[in-house]
Amino acid sequence: MAADTVLRPPPPHSGGARPPRIAADRMPRHVAIVMDGNGRWAQQRGLPRSEGHRAGSVAAHEMVYGALEIGLRHLTLYAFSTENWKRDTGEITAILEGVRRDLDAGRIRDLDVRQRWSGRPGRLPEELVQAFAHEERRTRARTGLTLTVCLDYGGRDEITRAAAALARAAQAGDVVPDLVDEVVFARHLPHPDMPDVDLLWRTGGEQRTSNFLPWQATYAELYFTPGPWPDVDRRDLWQAVAEYGRRRRRHGAAVPLASPRKPPTAPSAPL
Ligand code: FPP
Repeated sequence: MAADTVLRPPPPHSGGARPPRIAADRMPRHVAIVMDGNGRWAQQRGLPRSEGHRAGSVAAHEMVYGALEIGLRHLTLYAFSTENWKRDTGEITAILEGVRRDLDAGRIRDLDVRQRWSGRPGRLPEELVQAFAHEERRTRARTGLTLTVCLDYGGRDEITRAAAALARAAQAGDVVPDLVDEVVFARHLPHPDMPDVDLLWRTGGEQRTSNFLPWQATYAELYFTPGPWPDVDRRDLWQAVAEYGRRRRRHGAAVPLASPRKPPTAPSAPL
């Protein structure tokens, strides 16, 4: 962190909403969000889809502020997938330039946020990758929230690249193939320190995970909301986290009984 950076708290909610207090054992460690519905939001208003992405960026910033206010440690946002290249060039440019503008505007630069990019190398504009690398260097010592922005991200691509890295390590003699287990494999993911996703939230009414964090989200609680992404603000994140706190997570274990049952009493002997 640059010595002259004074970290400030996030700006308050515009309507004065205050963050809830969340018990430590009800708090997800990692929330991942599929920010869906920008295009429909814009089309419903007779606006170009790019305006939906612009409004979506405001909502993304709200999530960062809301996450900091409740003390969330990891937030991962799906901003552009490996499949989104199928969209028309104008829309792709609007999304990528919008993210670049956001980085340059630096609205989260002085918050306690460690910023980084996750995605496939080699296809995004080089200056965008450099801008992320710069933010990552500036913020790497921060301990509040880790914000991972997924751009040209695909879960299968991420797993495939991890497999390739593992194969290279085996070829170099650094890994013994017969000893590869989940822990060894995960060490070869592009962000090995990313914890498992506890809560995966998707807006916009669709109920699928769309190639988002398949390795990390195998046991995530799924949460789907009908409204489009630009309509959410930090209160919706708080609601999602509250819903997470009500879920019972078992990770494959059996459901414990609420209270131990008494053994059945023996029928009384006939008189
Ligand atoms: C999905 O909605 C949204 C995207 C593909 C782009 C999301 C990008 C942002 C919200 C900008 C993020 C900014 C930062 C700073 C991380 P869609 O276009 O698929 O909507 P539709 O389903 O209504 O067509």
